[in-house]
Amino acid sequence: MTTNGSVPTVTIRIQRFNPDVDKKPYWQEFTVKATQGKTILDALHEIKEEQDGSVTFRRSCRHAICGSCAANVNGRNMLICDAPLRDHLDRKGRVTLRPLPYLPVIKDLVVDRTTFWEQYLRVRPWLIPPDNIPEKEFRVSPEEVAALRNAERCIMCGACYSSCQVIALTKEYIGPHALLKAFLRVLDPRDSAPRERLEDLDRGDGVYRCHTIFNCIDACPKGLNPTAAIETLRKLVIKRVAFEEARRERQRRLDQPIEVVGEAPLLSGGE
Ligand code: FES
Repeated sequence: MTTNGSVPTVTIRIQRFNPDVDKKPYWQEFTVKATQGKTILDALHEIKEEQDGSVTFRRSCRHAICGSCAANVNGRNMLICDAPLRDHLDRKGRVTLRPLPYLPVIKDLVVDRTTFWEQYLRVRPWLIPPDNIPEKEFRVSPEEVAALRNAERCIMCGACYSSCQVIALTKEYIGPHALLKAFLRVLDPRDSAPRERLEDLDRGDGVYRCHTIFNCIDACPKGLNPTAAIETLRKLVIKRVAFEEARRERQRRLDQPIEVVGEAPLLSGGE
């Protein structure tokens, strides 16, 4: 980092690659001012507007909600709209940007997420409601909400998926993002297909393919724990018949708060 007046300047190293014209990726460096509060995404916008309009990246919300800006910063996946530039300088005052690993590069920092979304759809991420939908509302207890472990906060950024060492080997694996969504639906007392969902996950490329390396936890910008969700799904896969029975019983009283005593072990996968 060097100073230009009172504002330090830093180097942004970007892995560039345009498959239409480049034989292989190469590095390009840009210098930007590291003003207070500037994010890495802000720096990329500045580079694109003032230095090289061909630098390509994705972004939409700029508020860590849409997940489109996920990239690899100094070897770690993160949301660059939520990453202050000054917090990610290496010893030489540089920030190194690569596209998300293990995915085909469309251009520069933009990757092809086709397999990511295919696996997501494979787990049927939507709620499958029962026939007896309550007239007014589903009543879900605080314990049932707690059992979901904030899984609904996933923004589908792909940071976990592209940090997963199994995904590095095979795109047949469902992946931590889709398994976290499956966990959310299986544990949701309003969902009426937990047994079918668990049967779908009971395969070589399902819950048993996870090697429990924990990279997904480390990469998640929302602090979620896909590994724990996968562990819970493994336990529920084994006792899916009993779990479905408990779910049917629960759904007879969807318009009422429930007594969770005796039902909680099934809700939390027997933990
Ligand atoms: S731009 Fe939406 S999460 Fe970063």
